Amino acid sequence: MARLKVAVLISGRGSNLQALIDACAKPGFPAEITRVIANRADAAGLQRAASAGIATAIIPHRDYKSREDFDTALDAALRAAGVDLVCLAGFMRLLTPGFVARWHDRLINIHPSLLPAFPGLDTHARALAQGVRFTGCTVHFVRAEMDNGPIIVQAAVPVLTGDDADRLAARVLEAEHCAYPLALRLIGEGRVSVADERVVIAGAGAPAPMLLNPPE
Ligand code: GRF
Repeated sequence: MARLKVAVLISGRGSNLQALIDACAKPGFPAEITRVIANRADAAGLQRAASAGIATAIIPHRDYKSREDFDTALDAALRAAGVDLVCLAGFMRLLTPGFVARWHDRLINIHPSLLPAFPGLDTHARALAQGVRFTGCTVHFVRAEMDNGPIIVQAAVPVLTGDDADRLAARVLEAEHCAYPLALRLIGEGRVSVADERVVIAGAGAPAPMLLNPPE
């Protein structure tokens, strides 16, 4: 079967991009990254893409008068690249409803919390402030409302005594680097569908039945 052609959109360090690059390099992985697009020329992830031999493009949002104009340029670049799926990986721009509609169910994002808890920024500090005993990350289809949309994969991590936002972020980031490649693989294998705004995954196994924090 032809591999899914993927574009990854970044604004910064690109560690999730790297996890996707590494996954795509594995034999038999059902997707390939054909473009990495950044809205900032200084996005460190661009170097990761170049090192992997992936074509890059910079579309600086400051060059455009409006969000609509920026999204039109982005859309044109994605269409020209012939991509099947767009992965947002630390892409720090809100996309317009028009763009989101054009890429309906072909646009996914990773967010560093167990959505619908803690949408938006500063998720780890907010999780600590709330005293939750688990947090994690979510890979989801993008809808017009920020950090919202059918959930494909979630990974839960415990909050530990003595955590600060940085330590918790590092633990969640490790989980992100598993969850995003898994979501991409499931989509590439054609096992993901959306019905009534909920994701159905064909042939998904059963996860561990329970996690306790603290343990018994
Ligand atoms: C990740 O925590 C991701 O969940 C969020 O932005 C961060 C991007 O990190 N959307 P990186 O650029 O992938 O290292």
